[in-house]
Amino acid sequence: MISKILFALSFIITIVHGHLLIESNNPNDFRWSDCGGQIIRFNKLDFEPKPLVLSETKELYLTGDISINEDLPLDAEMTIVVNKTLNYDNDPYNITLPCIDGTFGSCTLKVCDSFKTWYNDLFCPFFQNIGRPCSCPIQAGRVTLNHGRVTVPFEQFKGFLAQMASGDYNAKFIINNPGHFGPGDNLLACLMLHARLVEKPNQQP
Ligand SMILES: *[C@@H]1O[C@H](CO)[C@@H](O)[C@H](O)[C@H]1NC(C)=O
Ligand SMILES: *[C@@H]1O[C@H](CO)[C@@H](O)[C@H](O)[C@H]1NC(C)=O
Repeated sequence: MISKILFALSFIITIVHGHLLIESNNPNDFRWSDCGGQIIRFNKLDFEPKPLVLSETKELYLTGDISINEDLPLDAEMTIVVNKTLNYDNDPYNITLPCIDGTFGSCTLKVCDSFKTWYNDLFCPFFQNIGRPCSCPIQAGRVTLNHGRVTVPFEQFKGFLAQMASGDYNAKFIINNPGHFGPGDNLLACLMLHARLVEKPNQQP
């Protein structure tokens, strides 16, 4: 009898959980747009599970489809601006996070050096998937990934830290060719991202 009840319960929980997972496909949890640059084009970007839950999310499954139309120059630079939306008296405003340790927050670094930072955890599965090394030079080609598993450190944010870190983030990610002079575009790639970090699962902001 007990085992039947337990079975029924677990069945209901599975359905409810599955339902919530579908429900949580909210554009506020994650959205992106390609904002220019002809050399790298973003065709598709996604991850599961959404939303990102502090103190809980340990791994993500990344999906992406990126066209690299020309070999990247070795001195290509990526500039990242990360904003957090704060609410003051119910008035939202964006603050730009500083650059911490040269790689966290709003930083500029050489694309080739990014393979030696935590960015490698995000980039490398894409290159590995198409049988390329996780290092420079980055050659032209189509880079795809379908539910590639990456580990992320959100789980380390607990309690007060999770409370502080939760919220809406906007990031602009651009890649420039600093050796480019003269007419034409020095912008190689531009990506806008929005993601919501929540403190607890199914939390309504
Ligand atoms: C914060 O920045 C995002 C992305 O740039 C924008 O969509 C949003 O309207 C901004 N919010 C405020 C209050 O300025
Ligand atoms: C970040 O915020 C600043 C100041 O509000 C704004 O000028 C900039 O466009 C924002 N960038 C992003 C990526 O939201």
